[in-house]
Amino acid sequence: MTAVAGDNLPVLTLATANPGKVTELVSLLGDRYQIRPRPADLAETDEDRDTLEGNARKKAAEVVAHCGSLAVADDSGLFVAALGGRPGVHTARFAGSNATHDENIDRLLAELTRHPDPAERRAEFRTVIVAAWPDGRELVVEGRVPGTITVERRGDDGFGYDPVFVPDEGEGLTFAQMSLEAKNRISHRARAITALLARL
Ligand code: IMP
Repeated sequence: MTAVAGDNLPVLTLATANPGKVTELVSLLGDRYQIRPRPADLAETDEDRDTLEGNARKKAAEVVAHCGSLAVADDSGLFVAALGGRPGVHTARFAGSNATHDENIDRLLAELTRHPDPAERRAEFRTVIVAAWPDGRELVVEGRVPGTITVERRGDDGFGYDPVFVPDEGEGLTFAQMSLEAKNRISHRARAITALLARL
């Protein structure tokens, strides 16, 4: 068989098959690892842990066991101070197990109506990434971006809670009003990936 560039690089399997996340990791780590998406025959992980780290560790462990390669898993959430840190680990399903992004935002804004003052609407996006090796070694890194929850949606880009999250470093724009490049310079996920790159 003809050798393909990167054939001799170590394999790194992601716990996600999300094309956007896979492309992002290939562009950042593709010169050091053969990046593979989550295998199609691996059952979805039940994300039942009560921390981002617990869920990321569980996802990474299942991929290591299945693939026998270095595995990388991430888990993210939005932590709102006035809500005691909720939705936190339940961010994706804040309004119910099959909730849409729009329904999740509606619930968040409804819960914050008693807190109209921006000072009371402080929040933080967090991403935890766990890298796990077949020999049991493990690396845990985190990225955070602090900001404020708006009273109304602003902007059309991005996903999830982007229309209602104004990062402190975003000159007053929501994530959904920023270009992807601008968001990626400061986002929780970008910061976690930068921390991972520095330590891999
Ligand atoms: P995940 O762990 O990356 O799947 O993120 C969990 C949930 O957090 C997503 O379903 C989104 O609702 C939310 N989330 C994570 N990252 C972002 C972001 O960059 N912008 C908006 N919402 C996000």
